[in-house]
Amino acid sequence: MQIAVGSDHAGYALKQVLADRLRELGHGVVDCGTGDEQPVDYPDFGALVGRAVCGGGADAGVCVCGTGIGISIAANKIRGVRAAVVHDVSSARLARAHNDANVACFGARLVGRTVALDALDAFLATGFDAGRHLRRIAKIDRLEEDA
Ligand code: RB5
Repeated sequence: MQIAVGSDHAGYALKQVLADRLRELGHGVVDCGTGDEQPVDYPDFGALVGRAVCGGGADAGVCVCGTGIGISIAANKIRGVRAAVVHDVSSARLARAHNDANVACFGARLVGRTVALDALDAFLATGFDAGRHLRRIAKIDRLEEDA
């Protein structure tokens, strides 16, 4: 898969770790920045990842900021993005299975590297359960149309 990654300064180091894992697994990585730990604004990078996933050719995205929250809010403003903050293997798996999340967001100040790597693996390895969840995802899509 082609996977877009992006972070602010707080998430930079973890983004690099997660991008390395993606490359090890054989995925193509589209690095949307940031490129170092100089302060930047997380909405810029959430938007870049969101646009890469929805219309830019990437199959999925990975975002990192201090908490994962701000960058997920920003990414979710892009039509078609379903960004989920994931804290562990269970939240990562359920974000895919129930919510068909296409962007995984991590909080570098809240989650250790090993937990984040395990969660990333789970996110990539889990498919959407569809079934009853399809109706709910369709309702999310309609919210975007009405907005
Ligand atoms: C940056 O200091 C911090 O606010 C940001 O990384 C993130 O945690 C926001 O949600």
